[in-house]
Amino acid sequence: MDDMRRQREQAVTDQVLASFAGAPSERFGLVMRALVRHLHAAAREVRLTHDEWFAAIDFLTRTGHMCDERRQEFVLLSDVLGLSMLTVGINAEADPAVTESTVLGPFFTEGSPLVELGGDLAGGASGVPCWVEGTVRGASGEPVAGARVEVWEADADGFYDVQYDGRRTANRGHLFTDTDGGFRFWSVRPAAYPIPDDGPVGELLRAAGRGPMRPAHIHFLITAPGYRRLITHLFAAGDPYLDDDAVFGVKQPLVVAFTDHPAGETPPAGGPRAGAWSSVRYDFVLAPQEAPA
Ligand code: BEZ
Ligand code: FE
Repeated sequence: MDDMRRQREQAVTDQVLASFAGAPSERFGLVMRALVRHLHAAAREVRLTHDEWFAAIDFLTRTGHMCDERRQEFVLLSDVLGLSMLTVGINAEADPAVTESTVLGPFFTEGSPLVELGGDLAGGASGVPCWVEGTVRGASGEPVAGARVEVWEADADGFYDVQYDGRRTANRGHLFTDTDGGFRFWSVRPAAYPIPDDGPVGELLRAAGRGPMRPAHIHFLITAPGYRRLITHLFAAGDPYLDDDAVFGVKQPLVVAFTDHPAGETPPAGGPRAGAWSSVRYDFVLAPQEAPA
């Protein structure tokens, strides 16, 4: 490339960078200048054509049109580009004793039903009954009593309750840990499922020759006064998609073995009287809330 062209291109970038110099928020200026620098560098690197630029604008426009209160296509886009997991990583706890975080995903909803300890949050969702138990502790090993444990999960057909027409609630609920930090509940054994791929994000995955599958998992969001919020999953060991998660969310310490129990083995807490069931156990560790500055 001749020097003249390079200088002309750099002049555009420099002008835009300078336009953010007076931003009243220093952080805003910093973030926007970094974004402009990297966006411009990418356009220069690939010698972006007009048609490609139009296609990108059209893609983002359609991504926006796909969003409503039940579908967040931009979150999905961030997830499949790995930006969500990168942000999780950048903000990760330094203490290796603390349970790893992963993506929130688009299927968390406020106002889930309260479930008694040992109760059933499946709410009629399809799947093999699964007993889930464990504890919530602090980084020094102290039990966290009264922690709010939010749980949500897809059914055996790979769908969350919010993906069905109608407003039924299933495989979703919250409970509070007992004085020993313990929690226990019935749900269903998780199954692998595809992320919604009928929109622009699905087009992107197909153009990349990538699949939409996520390995089987149960979502947890755990909060307690004095501790940092933990957003995580438990992944089922042996799932064929553990190394091929469409949103890059798998972390090895979160992969756990689910035990299969044959029909006839007595389940805890008045579980299913007939048929096979499954169980899993996990002890979560929360980071302390930072002291206010
Ligand atoms: C989920 O696990 O619910 C999920 C996460 C990211 C994108 C789509 C779904
Ligand atoms: Fe999920």
